[in-house]
Amino acid sequence: MRMYDLIYTKKLGGALSPEQIAFWVKGAADGSIPDEQSASLLMATCWRGMTTDETLALTLAMRDSGKRMDLSSVPGTKVDKHSTGGVGDKTTLILGPIVAACGVPCPMFSGRGLGHTGGTVDKFAAIPGLKVELTDAEFLRSLKETRFANSAPTGDIAPADKKLYALRDVTATVESIPLITASIMSKKLAGGADALVLDVKCGPTAFMKTLEDARTLARSMVAVGTAHGMQIRALITRMDAPLGWAIGNALEVMESVEILRGEHADSELAQMSFRLAAEMLIMGGAAQTLPEALAKVQASIRDGSALETLRRFTSLNGGDARALDDFSRLPQAGQTIDVLADRAGVVAAIDGRALGLLAMELGAGRKDRNDVLDLGVGIRVHARVGQRLEKGDKVFTAYAKAGYRLHDEAYRATLELMEGPPSQGSWLLDTIGC
Ligand code: URA
Repeated sequence: MRMYDLIYTKKLGGALSPEQIAFWVKGAADGSIPDEQSASLLMATCWRGMTTDETLALTLAMRDSGKRMDLSSVPGTKVDKHSTGGVGDKTTLILGPIVAACGVPCPMFSGRGLGHTGGTVDKFAAIPGLKVELTDAEFLRSLKETRFANSAPTGDIAPADKKLYALRDVTATVESIPLITASIMSKKLAGGADALVLDVKCGPTAFMKTLEDARTLARSMVAVGTAHGMQIRALITRMDAPLGWAIGNALEVMESVEILRGEHADSELAQMSFRLAAEMLIMGGAAQTLPEALAKVQASIRDGSALETLRRFTSLNGGDARALDDFSRLPQAGQTIDVLADRAGVVAAIDGRALGLLAMELGAGRKDRNDVLDLGVGIRVHARVGQRLEKGDKVFTAYAKAGYRLHDEAYRATLELMEGPPSQGSWLLDTIGC
């Protein structure tokens, strides 16, 4: 088989066979196929797309490029969640403990942040001492003892994805529905969960800008999961602002704990986390209907069992659980600087991507894979979409290193203000799947 022929076929819009796709993925991972040929095929795939069968074959080949977690020693239906990502998205820190407290095992592998996006692993790393790269044995122990496990994926889960994702990153080929589907689903299938809830973000700063594209991606991932016997359901959620008030690692831990204490219960972040958790409870067999599942979620907040699960998970994995009750034990910033509105108006949108980049400049995110984060810095977002602002209102607070000089105009520029009344609408745009 020649890689040239695969590229040529895809360039003309043809379909590749499962054998051809397996040949490519194996060669990309072991280095026998040069990067320039993989990059060409990635670009041709971006333009020409893939059939469902090709996407399935690509997912399987990538899953099988590494190990698969065996979670069969953990009783019950294991339910995972994946979000296509958004600035301020800390739902894993909230719903993982809730779902586990309600009796459903929740195994999760999470990524590190790069560029404007934060990574769940970095958020957990803000809890002093917490081990965020667990061995398989530690992962299983956490899942068995607390019903919650979260770890950075070890290098041997879908290594072909690691290789191809790095190439996509530098060849402008990330935004392709079959490539995103195979990348996400190969890791999820290798992770060993029985069921998966997807949160597909839709909005100007999300991967999927339109509802139509978000639906197509959701259907593609649901089709691949279903074909592999996974229970899978996707929620399509609006993203026109950062999720919640916190951007930055320790700040996001604080906000998650506040929600687990029962605060901010009406916020979009809390409502979204509760709904995703409820979907997970239904899949895990802990509830039959959405109202029943949501009632269980609320009970786990009210009786403190969700927060207690986070404390137990933290202690078991080497972290200082006292930091969850006493935020002064979390990493701190050297100074806080308020940014005020310079004119009146109604907030129509807040550019999460731009704020994510500003948080990265503060040290909360990585410009380069090897950057060391400052876990205490970040941004508190006071403004909310739909809110009427007056000149002089506090819109952001930057948590920065001592001596940091802030360009507050860049912060204000992330706010899209309008004159008229706020538009109303649910954060939940659609649901796809079982
Ligand atoms: N997240 C992934 O893991 N892969 C993609 O391709 C896009 C988002």
